Amino acid sequence: MTGIISAMQEEIQALLNQLENVSTTKKGMREYYCGTLFNKKVVLVFSRWGKVASAATTTQLINDFNIDEIIFTGVAGGIKEHLNIGDVVIGKHLYQHDLDARPFYNQFEIPILKNKYLETKDTTNLLNATHNFIDCYGEFVSKTEAEVFDIYAPKVILGDIASGDQFISSLEKIAHLNKLLPTTTCVEMEGAAVAQICYEYNMPFSIIRIISDKANDNATIDFARFANTIASNYALGILKNYFA
Ligand code: ADE
Repeated sequence: MTGIISAMQEEIQALLNQLENVSTTKKGMREYYCGTLFNKKVVLVFSRWGKVASAATTTQLINDFNIDEIIFTGVAGGIKEHLNIGDVVIGKHLYQHDLDARPFYNQFEIPILKNKYLETKDTTNLLNATHNFIDCYGEFVSKTEAEVFDIYAPKVILGDIASGDQFISSLEKIAHLNKLLPTTTCVEMEGAAVAQICYEYNMPFSIIRIISDKANDNATIDFARFANTIASNYALGILKNYFA
Protein backbone atom coordinates (compact mmCIF):
# COMPACT_ATOMS: atom_id res chain seq x y z
CA MET A 1 0.00 0.00 0.00
CA THR A 2 1.23 3.49 -0.86
CA GLY A 3 0.90 6.37 1.60
CA ILE A 4 0.24 9.67 -0.16
CA ILE A 5 0.66 12.91 1.77
CA SER A 6 0.00 16.53 0.89
CA ALA A 7 0.15 19.49 3.22
CA MET A 8 -3.24 20.90 2.21
CA GLN A 9 -6.54 19.47 1.11
CA GLU A 10 -6.29 21.63 -2.04
CA GLU A 11 -3.20 19.71 -3.11
CA ILE A 12 -4.87 16.33 -2.79
CA GLN A 13 -8.55 17.00 -3.61
CA ALA A 14 -8.43 15.64 -7.16
CA LEU A 15 -7.03 12.36 -5.79
CA LEU A 16 -9.74 12.19 -3.13
CA ASN A 17 -12.36 12.65 -5.84
CA GLN A 18 -11.04 9.59 -7.68
CA LEU A 19 -10.60 7.38 -4.63
CA GLU A 20 -12.82 4.26 -4.62
CA ASN A 21 -13.95 1.94 -1.79
CA VAL A 22 -13.15 4.66 0.70
CA SER A 23 -12.91 4.06 4.43
CA THR A 24 -11.84 6.82 6.79
CA THR A 25 -9.89 6.65 10.04
CA LYS A 26 -9.32 9.60 12.31
CA LYS A 27 -6.07 9.80 14.27
CA GLY A 28 -4.27 12.74 15.82
CA MET A 29 -6.73 15.28 14.37
CA ARG A 30 -6.22 14.00 10.84
CA GLU A 31 -8.41 11.94 8.51
CA TYR A 32 -6.69 9.04 6.77
CA TYR A 33 -8.58 8.03 3.62
CA CYS A 34 -7.92 4.39 2.66
CA GLY A 35 -9.11 3.16 -0.71
CA THR A 36 -8.21 2.28 -4.27
CA LEU A 37 -6.71 4.79 -6.66
CA PHE A 38 -6.10 3.64 -10.25
CA ASN A 39 -6.34 0.02 -9.00
CA LYS A 40 -3.67 0.53 -6.40
CA LYS A 41 -4.33 0.40 -2.64
CA VAL A 42 -3.48 3.76 -1.09
CA VAL A 43 -3.99 5.81 2.02
CA LEU A 44 -4.34 9.55 1.48
CA VAL A 45 -3.87 12.19 4.14
CA PHE A 46 -3.22 15.89 4.32
CA SER A 47 -0.73 16.62 7.03
CA ARG A 48 -1.27 20.38 7.38
CA TRP A 49 1.62 22.81 7.04
CA GLY A 50 5.08 22.53 8.48
CA LYS A 51 7.71 20.08 9.58
CA VAL A 52 6.12 19.01 12.87
CA ALA A 53 2.76 18.26 11.26
CA SER A 54 4.28 16.35 8.36
CA ALA A 55 6.65 14.38 10.61
CA ALA A 56 3.75 13.37 12.87
CA THR A 57 1.66 12.32 9.89
CA THR A 58 4.50 10.31 8.36
CA THR A 59 5.15 8.51 11.64
CA GLN A 60 1.47 7.65 12.01
CA LEU A 61 1.29 6.36 8.44
CA ILE A 62 4.31 4.13 8.90
CA ASN A 63 3.23 2.73 12.27
CA ASP A 64 -0.52 2.32 11.83
CA PHE A 65 -1.06 1.59 8.16
CA ASN A 66 0.43 -1.23 6.18
CA ILE A 67 2.37 0.91 3.73
CA ASP A 68 5.53 0.12 1.82
CA GLU A 69 6.27 3.52 0.31
CA ILE A 70 5.42 7.17 0.82
CA ILE A 71 4.85 9.78 -1.84
CA PHE A 72 4.57 13.40 -0.82
CA THR A 73 3.05 15.63 -3.47
CA GLY A 74 2.54 19.35 -3.16
CA VAL A 75 3.60 22.79 -4.26
CA ALA A 76 6.84 24.69 -3.68
CA GLY A 77 8.47 28.03 -4.33
CA GLY A 78 11.08 27.84 -7.10
CA ILE A 79 14.30 29.68 -6.35
CA LYS A 80 16.25 29.06 -9.55
CA GLU A 81 15.79 31.31 -12.59
CA HIS A 82 15.17 28.41 -14.95
CA LEU A 83 12.30 27.01 -12.84
CA ASN A 84 8.90 28.37 -13.80
CA ILE A 85 5.49 28.08 -12.24
CA GLY A 86 4.12 24.71 -13.36
CA ASP A 87 7.50 22.98 -13.51
CA VAL A 88 8.02 19.93 -11.33
CA VAL A 89 10.88 19.03 -9.00
CA ILE A 90 11.45 15.46 -7.89
CA GLY A 91 13.42 15.61 -4.68
CA LYS A 92 16.98 14.35 -4.74
CA HIS A 93 18.35 15.59 -1.42
CA LEU A 94 16.17 17.12 1.29
CA TYR A 95 17.59 19.84 3.51
CA GLN A 96 16.14 21.50 6.60
CA HIS A 97 17.22 25.06 5.86
CA ASP A 98 16.16 26.38 9.28
CA LEU A 99 18.01 23.71 11.29
CA ASP A 100 21.03 25.18 13.03
CA ALA A 101 22.29 23.66 16.29
CA ARG A 102 25.84 25.03 16.09
CA PRO A 103 28.25 24.54 17.75
CA PHE A 104 26.91 21.14 18.77
CA TYR A 105 26.23 20.12 15.18
CA ASN A 106 27.10 21.64 11.83
CA GLN A 107 24.65 24.08 10.32
CA PHE A 108 21.80 22.06 8.75
CA GLU A 109 23.04 18.84 10.34
CA ILE A 110 20.17 16.60 11.43
CA PRO A 111 20.82 15.32 14.95
CA ILE A 112 20.66 11.64 14.09
CA LEU A 113 24.18 10.57 14.92
CA LYS A 114 25.67 11.06 18.38
CA ASN A 115 26.68 14.57 19.22
CA LYS A 116 30.36 14.59 18.31
CA TYR A 117 31.03 17.95 19.88
CA LEU A 118 29.76 16.91 23.30
CA GLU A 119 31.75 13.69 23.11
CA THR A 120 35.05 15.09 21.95
CA LYS A 121 34.84 18.84 22.45
CA ASP A 122 36.63 18.89 19.10
CA THR A 123 35.00 21.06 16.45
CA THR A 124 37.14 19.68 13.61
CA ASN A 125 35.13 16.45 13.79
CA LEU A 126 31.97 18.34 13.01
CA LEU A 127 33.13 18.86 9.46
CA ASN A 128 32.72 15.15 8.79
CA ALA A 129 29.01 15.26 9.48
CA THR A 130 27.06 13.06 7.10
CA HIS A 131 23.51 14.07 7.92
CA ASN A 132 23.15 17.53 6.47
CA PHE A 133 20.55 16.17 4.11
CA ILE A 134 18.55 13.01 3.46
CA ASP A 135 18.82 11.26 0.10
CA CYS A 136 15.53 10.39 -1.57
CA TYR A 137 15.38 6.73 -2.41
CA GLY A 138 11.86 6.25 -3.72
CA GLU A 139 10.88 4.95 -7.15
CA PHE A 140 10.66 8.36 -8.73
CA VAL A 141 14.35 9.11 -8.45
CA SER A 142 15.28 6.35 -10.88
CA LYS A 143 12.65 7.06 -13.54
CA THR A 144 12.98 9.38 -16.49
CA GLU A 145 10.73 12.34 -17.03
CA ALA A 146 8.73 10.83 -19.85
CA GLU A 147 8.14 7.58 -17.96
CA VAL A 148 6.81 9.31 -14.89
CA PHE A 149 4.80 12.15 -16.32
CA ASP A 150 2.43 12.32 -19.18
CA ILE A 151 3.12 16.03 -19.45
CA TYR A 152 5.75 17.43 -21.71
CA ALA A 153 5.46 21.20 -21.71
CA PRO A 154 6.49 21.79 -18.10
CA LYS A 155 10.04 20.93 -17.14
CA VAL A 156 10.57 18.03 -14.78
CA ILE A 157 13.86 17.97 -12.97
CA LEU A 158 15.57 16.01 -10.23
CA GLY A 159 16.74 18.56 -7.69
CA ASP A 160 17.58 19.39 -4.12
CA ILE A 161 14.76 20.76 -1.96
CA ALA A 162 15.06 22.84 1.21
CA SER A 163 12.31 22.73 3.85
CA GLY A 164 11.74 25.05 6.78
CA ASP A 165 8.93 26.39 8.90
CA GLN A 166 8.82 29.57 6.84
CA PHE A 167 6.88 30.71 3.81
CA ILE A 168 9.58 32.33 1.66
CA SER A 169 8.50 35.45 -0.20
CA SER A 170 11.51 37.73 -0.51
CA LEU A 171 14.50 38.08 -2.79
CA GLU A 172 16.77 38.57 0.23
CA LYS A 173 15.81 35.21 1.66
CA ILE A 174 16.31 33.55 -1.72
CA ALA A 175 19.79 35.09 -1.99
CA HIS A 176 20.59 33.93 1.54
CA LEU A 177 19.50 30.36 0.76
CA ASN A 178 21.33 30.31 -2.55
CA LYS A 179 24.49 31.26 -0.69
CA LEU A 180 24.12 28.71 2.12
CA LEU A 181 22.64 25.81 0.15
CA PRO A 182 23.53 26.57 -3.47
CA THR A 183 22.07 23.40 -5.00
CA THR A 184 18.56 24.14 -3.70
CA THR A 185 16.00 24.31 -6.51
CA CYS A 186 12.87 25.02 -4.49
CA VAL A 187 11.60 25.68 -0.99
CA GLU A 188 8.69 24.23 0.92
CA MET A 189 7.70 23.40 4.47
CA GLU A 190 7.43 19.61 4.86
CA GLY A 191 9.60 17.46 2.58
CA ALA A 192 12.75 17.21 4.68
CA ALA A 193 10.73 16.27 7.77
CA VAL A 194 9.05 13.46 5.85
CA ALA A 195 12.50 12.47 4.56
CA GLN A 196 13.99 12.31 8.04
CA ILE A 197 11.19 10.11 9.39
CA CYS A 198 11.35 7.82 6.34
CA TYR A 199 15.11 7.57 6.78
CA GLU A 200 14.70 6.66 10.44
CA TYR A 201 12.14 3.94 9.59
CA ASN A 202 13.89 2.80 6.40
CA MET A 203 10.78 3.58 4.35
CA PRO A 204 11.14 4.31 0.59
CA PHE A 205 9.81 7.75 -0.22
CA SER A 206 9.56 10.34 -2.98
CA ILE A 207 8.96 14.06 -2.69
CA ILE A 208 7.29 15.66 -5.70
CA ARG A 209 6.92 19.41 -5.82
CA ILE A 210 5.10 21.47 -8.39
CA ILE A 211 6.32 25.05 -8.60
CA SER A 212 3.44 27.30 -7.55
CA ASP A 213 5.41 30.52 -7.12
CA LYS A 214 8.93 31.89 -7.27
CA ALA A 215 9.32 32.63 -3.54
CA ASN A 216 9.47 36.36 -4.37
CA ASP A 217 7.27 39.39 -3.61
CA ASN A 218 4.44 37.88 -5.63
CA ALA A 219 4.65 34.47 -3.96
CA THR A 220 1.58 34.72 -1.74
CA ILE A 221 -0.68 35.60 -4.69
CA ASP A 222 0.83 33.04 -7.08
CA PHE A 223 0.84 30.32 -4.44
CA ALA A 224 -2.82 30.76 -3.48
CA ARG A 225 -3.98 30.89 -7.09
CA PHE A 226 -2.02 27.82 -8.10
CA ALA A 227 -2.94 25.77 -5.02
CA ASN A 228 -6.63 26.58 -5.38
CA THR A 229 -6.84 25.75 -9.06
CA ILE A 230 -4.52 23.19 -10.60
CA ALA A 231 -2.13 21.81 -7.98
CA SER A 232 -4.08 18.65 -7.25
CA ASN A 233 -4.67 17.94 -10.95
CA TYR A 234 -0.94 17.70 -11.33
CA ALA A 235 -0.86 15.20 -8.48
CA LEU A 236 -3.60 13.22 -10.19
CA GLY A 237 -1.79 13.11 -13.55
CA ILE A 238 1.53 12.21 -12.00
CA LEU A 239 0.13 9.38 -9.85
CA LYS A 240 -2.06 8.01 -12.63
CA ASN A 241 1.02 7.56 -14.73
CA TYR A 242 3.02 6.18 -11.82
CA PHE A 243 0.46 3.49 -10.97
CA ALA A 244 -0.30 2.58 -14.60
N1 ADE B 1 5.23 26.29 -0.72
C1 ADE B 1 4.87 26.85 -1.87
N2 ADE B 1 5.51 28.03 -2.04
C2 ADE B 1 6.30 28.20 -0.95
C3 ADE B 1 7.18 29.23 -0.54
N3 ADE B 1 7.38 30.31 -1.29
N4 ADE B 1 7.82 29.08 0.65
C4 ADE B 1 7.59 27.98 1.42
N5 ADE B 1 6.77 26.99 1.08
C5 ADE B 1 6.12 27.09 -0.11
